[in-house]
This record gives sequence, structure tokens and C-alpha cells, in this order.
Amino acid sequence: MLLFVCLCLFSIINAQDQRSAVYNEAEARELLNLAAAAYAENPLPCLNRTLPSGAKWSIFKWTNNTDCDLFGDTCGFYSIVDETNNLITVVFRGTKTTEQLLTEGLDSSEPKVNFYNIGLNYDVTFTGHSLGAALASLAALRTVLENLRNGNQIKMVNFGQPRVGNVDLAMKHDQLLPYSFRVVHSMDIVPHIPACAKNHSVEQDDSSPCNPDNKKKSYHHGVEIWYPNTMNPGDQYIECLGQPTDEDFSCSDKNTFSLNSYQSYIADHRHYFEVEVPSFGETGCNLNDPEGDYVEQGIFG
Ligand SMILES: *[C@@H]1O[C@H](CO)[C@@H](O)[C@H](O)[C@H]1NC(C)=O
Ligand SMILES: *[C@@H]1O[C@H](CO)[C@@H](O)[C@H](O)[C@H]1NC(C)=O
Ligand SMILES: *[C@@H]1O[C@H](CO)[C@@H](O)[C@H](O)[C@H]1NC(C)=O
Repeated sequence: MLLFVCLCLFSIINAQDQRSAVYNEAEARELLNLAAAAYAENPLPCLNRTLPSGAKWSIFKWTNNTDCDLFGDTCGFYSIVDETNNLITVVFRGTKTTEQLLTEGLDSSEPKVNFYNIGLNYDVTFTGHSLGAALASLAALRTVLENLRNGNQIKMVNFGQPRVGNVDLAMKHDQLLPYSFRVVHSMDIVPHIPACAKNHSVEQDDSSPCNPDNKKKSYHHGVEIWYPNTMNPGDQYIECLGQPTDEDFSCSDKNTFSLNSYQSYIADHRHYFEVEVPSFGETGCNLNDPEGDYVEQGIFG
């Protein structure tokens, strides 16, 4: 009888499935540091500060410039093998120059990450910021599509991700990757490019929701985690599970952007968890120096 009850409970939990994955802010904070470290010439100082000192980890592969797509654009990534927790973490840094990457989607993105044969029992976490976030998303999906891991072995958590494909790609992503979170900081504008098609039957403060019926335009996969204000410990965030699916109009999609506030949208894009991500990474993730040695650069610096 007891066994029966237990099995029952278990299958109820399983049946809830998929979207029962819960956003874990502590994990996201750690991954943000790893994403920041990808901007550094040497990620080690940042990793030393971030990863638990007891764990047995090492950098498995580290490249600055590798072909990331069919256009010869480049990106960088490194991966960490954690033998204590049987975990591989793959961290991407996006190219600084191209915007083509944003529009080409899955087919063109082929990160040559040869980590797969390290141990099939190792789970894999993908992360990145900005264009690195786009690559993390696409690499996670590709890893499942190519049967290198099943979706339940993969986590995808990224920061300030632009849209990477259309609604079909988004739905495929949702179906195959139950643990997937796109963290969005306040008025960060990058998650809103390329633009989605709009559903003009709704208009609120000069903003309209995305239209999932349009397959030609870009559309996000799930799940947005929106911090409407700042990202200090204890600050409010919203798990955006409302309508339209994955483009919840009660989250960042309701923002309207005006040209004269452009700088502040870029600032929000560069700041996650109250650090200036590229610069914080370059200077080794020292929390006493959250702005690092920041000097103003382009949008995807
Ligand atoms: C990081 O930690 C390792 C092991 O403790 C040490 O060998 C290495 O020098 C450290 N690297 C940096 C850059 O702090
Ligand atoms: C990446 O670039 C840095 C500095 O330019 C260099 O020290 C490091 O060795 C490079 N790493 C690889 C794998 O090429
Ligand atoms: C547009 O928004 C309206 C109101 O929320 C909704 O009923 C309709 O289904 C939406 N259209 C599409 C194509 O999603």
C-alpha cells in the first residue's frame, strides 16, 4: 500500500512534467559569473572566486576565436568539467561584431564544442550573456537534436538573449529542453531584437504583444525570468508563463523603448545582478569592483 502511494505520487510529479522546472536564482548568479568570465583573457581568476573550493573542476577546452557559423563569424567559449558533480558547463562569448548571427538561427550556428565524449553520464549546462546567450541557446538545442544528450540532462540559463529563431524553433526548444531560462534585466533591449511580429488587436501604452501565428518573424522560446527593476539579492523577479506563450505580455514585452533613452537600455543589457558583465569578467569577478574597468563600448561589447 505504501509503495502504491509512493508510485502514485511519483507519477503525478512526472505528469506535471516539463515546465515544473523551477528557476534557481543562486544557480543563475553563479552562472552569470561564468558568463562574465568568458569576456576575460583568462577566465581562471573569476572561476576561482566563483566555484566552490571543494569541487574538483578544471577547464576542459578554451578557445578565443573559433568559427561559429557559416559566415566565418567568430565566438569564444570555454567549458568546465566538474568531476564532483558530474557536470559539464559550457560558456559562450558572442562575437563582438556581427548581427547576422541573430537572424540566421539554428542552421548557421555550429559551435564546434567537442565536449560530448567526456562522459555521457555528465549533465551539461549551457550559459552566456548577450550573443553568448544566443549561442548557448542554440548549442543546447542542437545537443538534444543530435542525440548527444537527452533534454533532461541539459540546463540552459542565459542573460540578455536576443531572439534566435521563429515560433517553430521556439516550440521545438520548449519541447526538448524543459530546463531553460532566459534572464532579462528590466529595460534590456537586446531580448527584443530581432523584432517579433505584433498582434495589433491589443495595444497598451504603445506596445503590442507578439503574434505567434507569424512564422516568418522571430519569436522567443521559454522561459523568460524578468527582473522589472534592479537585480539585488531579494529583488522581485517574475517567471513569465503568461500569454502569449514565451512572449508573456505582462513581462518585458510590455516595455516601450524610445530612442532618447537608448543609453539606459544598453546599460541594463550590460548589467546583470548589479555587475557590469563584460568588465566584471575581465577583471576577475571581484564583487568589490562590480563595474570592473568599464569603458564604454558597443552594444555587444
Ligand atoms: C586558481 O586556483 C588554482 C588552484 O587553487 C591555482 O592553481 C591557480 O593559480 C588559480 N589561478 C588564478 C588565476 O587565480
Ligand atoms: C586567449 O587569449 C588570451 C589573450 O589574448 C591568451 O592568453 C590565451 O592563451 C588565449 N587562449 C587560447 C586558448 O587561445
Ligand atoms: C491577439 O490578441 C487577442 C487578445 O488577447 C487574442 O484573443 C488573439 O488570439 C491574439 N491573436 C493571435 C494571433 O495570437
